Amino acid sequence: MQQTIVGAIERVAEDVVSLVLKGATGPLAPWEPGAHIDLALPNWLTRQYSLCGDPADRESYRVAVRHDRLSRGGSEYIHRFLRQGRTLDVSLPRNHFPLLPAPEYLFLAGGIGITPILPMLRAAAASGVPASLVYMGQSRASMPFADELRSRYGDRVRIIATREQGRPDFAALAAALNPGAVVYACGPGPMLEAAEAAFPAGRLHAELFRPVARSFAPNTAFEAVCARSGQTVQVPADESLLDALTHAGYPVASGCREGVCGSCEIAVVDGEPEHRDAIGAPAGRMYACVSRALSPRLVVDL
Ligand code: FES
Repeated sequence: MQQTIVGAIERVAEDVVSLVLKGATGPLAPWEPGAHIDLALPNWLTRQYSLCGDPADRESYRVAVRHDRLSRGGSEYIHRFLRQGRTLDVSLPRNHFPLLPAPEYLFLAGGIGITPILPMLRAAAASGVPASLVYMGQSRASMPFADELRSRYGDRVRIIATREQGRPDFAALAAALNPGAVVYACGPGPMLEAAEAAFPAGRLHAELFRPVARSFAPNTAFEAVCARSGQTVQVPADESLLDALTHAGYPVASGCREGVCGSCEIAVVDGEPEHRDAIGAPAGRMYACVSRALSPRLVVDL
């Protein structure tokens, strides 16, 4: 964890604020475009936000937060109660959506999905790689950073207010894609599904906000042995490994609880995990919020 102090809180669109988080004890950990951090909020919730500032700025991070009316407390807290000067712990940046080298980029962003795309576009422009952005949202007023993008990148950015103009024609964009160009897309599920239907799979990189629906065998109970303490924690069929460990006194971080953010990653020493996450656990690791065990006993590094 890194300690930060909340700097400017600025309204950047209807229901969206941007937060500047300044390093409290010196430079913050480096990051690459596409990375996100976990914010440990004072109301005990942890939430993930894509970094949307400048990676060259080691003094502060910037994130943007849409007020979700169905908020389970994360965006609600940030919009209603968070104030400048407050101390916030944030995780080290993690990146499940890295910008890979390509001769040309087409970026697609929907609403708050613009956040990881901002530093990608900045990096592409800085390196002289041709890049364009199609940025869509229900109305211009609901789209954070739209004016900033237009003034910085001019015609390379198309802003589409879908309520008035309808959805952009992804099939036409795909047909016009230059050879070698790759597409980075971030936005709500229906937009990503439309992008997946229109663009060849090998050329599309999409940021997944929602887990992919998959089915698994019914849950069974198993034992989690904590290698460092030697304690055995029983994980009943109706409880997640994350909750069982937390209730037993092992504070494993968590965020989405849906296997998409990576906050709850733990190391597996022995046994066979059943990976149910949507991001792909590295070898020897698992995400305790959704993943379980295929073996009756799992030894974890806690
Ligand atoms: S809490 Fe997000 S992957 Fe587990």
